[in-house]
Amino acid sequence: MTPAPDAIDRIAPPQLPALLAAMPKAELHMHIEGSLEPEMIFALARRNGVALPYASVDALRQAYAFSDLQSFLDIYYAGASVLLTEQDFYDMARAYLARAATDNVVHAEIFFDPQTHTERGVSMGTVVHGLSRACREAPAQQGVSAALILCFLRHLSEQQAFETLEQALPFRDHFIGVGLDSSEVGHPPEKFARVFARCRELGLHVVAHAGEEGPPDYIWQALDVLRAERIDHGVQAVHDAALMARLAADRVPLTVCPLSNQKLRVFPDLADHNLKALLDAGLMATVNSDDPAYFGGYVNDNFQAVFAATGMTARHAWQLASNSFDASFAPPEDKARWHRQLADVFSRFAAA
Ligand code: HPA
Ligand code: ZN
Repeated sequence: MTPAPDAIDRIAPPQLPALLAAMPKAELHMHIEGSLEPEMIFALARRNGVALPYASVDALRQAYAFSDLQSFLDIYYAGASVLLTEQDFYDMARAYLARAATDNVVHAEIFFDPQTHTERGVSMGTVVHGLSRACREAPAQQGVSAALILCFLRHLSEQQAFETLEQALPFRDHFIGVGLDSSEVGHPPEKFARVFARCRELGLHVVAHAGEEGPPDYIWQALDVLRAERIDHGVQAVHDAALMARLAADRVPLTVCPLSNQKLRVFPDLADHNLKALLDAGLMATVNSDDPAYFGGYVNDNFQAVFAATGMTARHAWQLASNSFDASFAPPEDKARWHRQLADVFSRFAAA
């Protein structure tokens, strides 16, 4: 890893917005169905003859006022109902990757929720082939490398997760790992202990949402029962000192999503967000967009908003971008190249 340039502390607060935009970064927590913009939802509904319970794009956008995770998920699953064909999945992923490239995202590990589609009669192959084609083309077309992570919906049963894994195995080469998402409270990670054990045997990477709304105990379970390599969100860890020590000692990445946390009222005021505290405690936090079409912004909007609200510095910015590369499942030579690009951007700003 290239160290932060010594001159990093000369980068002044007024330079931060441009620095945050320009620095290369990896995005590790983004649900592709959450990148469906209202305009694309309406365009796909028209193309596929799907009726929507909203009169217009504006009316749909008006409905994006959430009180908690579940109030968001209800609308998010409804929005995904317009996705029917391989082309739909391709178009959605291509649009996200093109948008991410404008934020200087160099690598994206993208969540998808196959059960949202297979339970509507869309085949696993349709979902995976559409998303996978966009990912395969992204290095040449958008200058971004991209990989897929299949998420199990935790409000559904262990049996349904096993069936989903079975359906996905013919496409094993198209995804790098598995995750766990949807309604957290009442669905602890241990519910999926056996599914995740099987996934690890298959050589898949393992991540899990934990400690978004749920208690620190769910983060312990994600680590010790699922053996998750990254924790998605994880912001509730601050309520457990022993857990904070464990996460720091083992350099467990946390994929933090500031605007999501604000919109779902985990931190209703972004000034109260604990990202800076997590970093200052030595945890390997990263910044991500979660569901950018629903939460008011893509990854750079998340960086800009949380820095403006919490007074982080250029050193925090460097740490977050550096963590995003180290926390990714990309090959070491890619990580080394991104670290060099990061150092170049910071040297340029320090010299300005
Ligand atoms: N949490 C849980 N499930 C999700 C989320 C989230 O933030 N976004 C999409 N599915
Ligand atoms: Zn998420």
